[in-house]
Amino acid sequence: MKPVIALTKGRLEKQFIKFLKDLDYDVNPLLDKGRKLQVETDHFCAIFAKGIDVATYVEYGIADLGIVGEDILLEVQPDVFDLLPFPFGKCRFAIAGEPSNLTPLRKQRIATKYPNITTKYFRDQGKSVDIVKLEGSVELAPLLGLADDIVDIVETGNTLKENGLVVKEEMLTISARLIANRNSLKLKRAILTPLIDSFRIEEEII
Ligand code: PRP
Repeated sequence: MKPVIALTKGRLEKQFIKFLKDLDYDVNPLLDKGRKLQVETDHFCAIFAKGIDVATYVEYGIADLGIVGEDILLEVQPDVFDLLPFPFGKCRFAIAGEPSNLTPLRKQRIATKYPNITTKYFRDQGKSVDIVKLEGSVELAPLLGLADDIVDIVETGNTLKENGLVVKEEMLTISARLIANRNSLKLKRAILTPLIDSFRIEEEII
């Protein structure tokens, strides 16, 4: 039986496929998938999901392994084994906003997809802020007056730049991570180890 890997759709999916290609895996089934959400390759079965759902599929053992952004692990803290970092998906958490806005007299309002990370970050600094939870396009919030600033991940910086926003404070850097279901690691060790090791070797070289 082949291992099941849950892949985060979108940017991480593309970067992971390139990573596999560089390792000489046959990635054609992944590239030719069209709108299919399950694909079988020579070495594993892949399922495609949103990052937060990748963590859920791995936690419940539907997928043995998962490729997920560290942002999801920090925000949701799923009960999975965090195996190793990948050399892609590197980005940073930052507080960003309009260049000129002044600190408000009332409590600062922060829009974010990451309320837990944001709360912890400000709490560690002894600050209390109001958090507005959004699901995406967070950059709109300061532009439209929904929030003073945002906490979000910045990769190329293009989204901030094209919307006239700037980084005000760097928080932490993150990357894509390989996660595993805890039982799969024990019960399917023989089929998972070669795959995991092939990913690990590449990371160490880089
Ligand atoms: C993420 C993030 C930023 C953007 C940063 O959003 O929330 O909006 O990428 O990337 P950049 O620095 O390379 O521009 P995503 O693309 O996941 O879409 P979303 O806004 O719908 O969450």
